[in-house]
Amino acid sequence: MTDRPPVLASPPDLLREPLHLGSLPLPSRFFLAPMAGYTSLAFRLAVRALGGLGLVTTDLVNARAILERRPRSFELAETCPEDRPMSIQIYGHVIEEMRQAARWAVDNGATSVDINMGCPVNKVVKSGGGSALMCQATAATALVAAVVDSVNVPVTVKMRLGWDDQNLSAPALARSFEQVGTAGVIIHGRTREQGFKGGVNRDGIRAVVEAVDKMPVIGNGDIRTLADAAGMFAETGCAAISIGRGALSNPFIYRQLACWAATGDPGPEPTFEERIDVMVAHFHGLLDRRGERTACLQFRKLIKWYSHAIRPAKVLSHRLINLASAKLFDETVELIRAEGPTSPLPGHFEPRVPVPSGPIDKW
Ligand SMILES: Cc1cc2nc3c(=O)[nH]c(=O)nc-3n(C[C@H](O)[C@H](O)[C@H](O)COP(=O)(O)O)c2cc1C
Repeated sequence: MTDRPPVLASPPDLLREPLHLGSLPLPSRFFLAPMAGYTSLAFRLAVRALGGLGLVTTDLVNARAILERRPRSFELAETCPEDRPMSIQIYGHVIEEMRQAARWAVDNGATSVDINMGCPVNKVVKSGGGSALMCQATAATALVAAVVDSVNVPVTVKMRLGWDDQNLSAPALARSFEQVGTAGVIIHGRTREQGFKGGVNRDGIRAVVEAVDKMPVIGNGDIRTLADAAGMFAETGCAAISIGRGALSNPFIYRQLACWAATGDPGPEPTFEERIDVMVAHFHGLLDRRGERTACLQFRKLIKWYSHAIRPAKVLSHRLINLASAKLFDETVELIRAEGPTSPLPGHFEPRVPVPSGPIDKW
């Protein structure tokens, strides 16, 4: 679904070299970024089946909620043997809770544990977790060190560039985290103050790459096309990239990136049938794991992207927007397959994922 830019840069040689997070070998340098409400096991498996994916991460899970055995946190952290390598992302600021939650994550199948230090949302920040930790270097490093010591899998940290433009703490923090044994950092190239506004500061990500010794730095933010990916590698020197919203509108982007890395060409565009197949795999994955009601409700918010990519007749996409049953889904999909697309299939398009907006202290 990605538009082929007129001239796509050659892939950097780095992409042909294997990447390890600590001792964990990864199949590619192209990761799926955690997105609360979207990166379900069903979605991860559907995207993984398309190829090219290096690492997935779950939605963020509250460490205390894990220890309190809240069913919702177990749902968020759900995985299966086919879902490897995968990282469970935890957040919190109480060291003992984070240590125990990390151990639980490993027992639950995580091949790495990711600590959230990027979340700007008030609920997370007020509790001392997410991007609040970026303002307290000593406490943040002690927390990371404790988590690293508590598990025998690689530990990563996902963070923003800093709290605001005057406090770009990510380079110094990344260096401290590396010194206490962190296997990698994922950097969303915005500050907490920016929220999701403005552009991604690739110079800021490069400053993190330059601050660390050997630890891989994973660049994140606004990668929607292969040209964006090429730019992120070229301008930051990052070891890998992490893609969030771009994967919702184009779940084939990892396969295209892998093809580009191997041959210099993104390979064929996904066909109509392939686009339908990934939608079906996603829906049925949700159905099998969450039951009909939840699957239908979750799919209502996803259907706009699939409809945009598949171009069914309006009357058929409306049946899915108000999806009420699995039977209706299957029947509608068969009609869509039989009718074919109503207009040429699009290349890249902007995924309009709702993100918090307005004054950031109100999020
Ligand atoms: C709806 C939504 C939910 C998100 N949830 C999480 C999360 O649970 N943990 C996290 O570290 N980042 C989360 N993020 C941030 C993304 O992982 C990513 O850093 C950000 O969207 C920028 O990358 P992108 O432009 O590729 O989407 C979320 C982003 C969105 C849009």
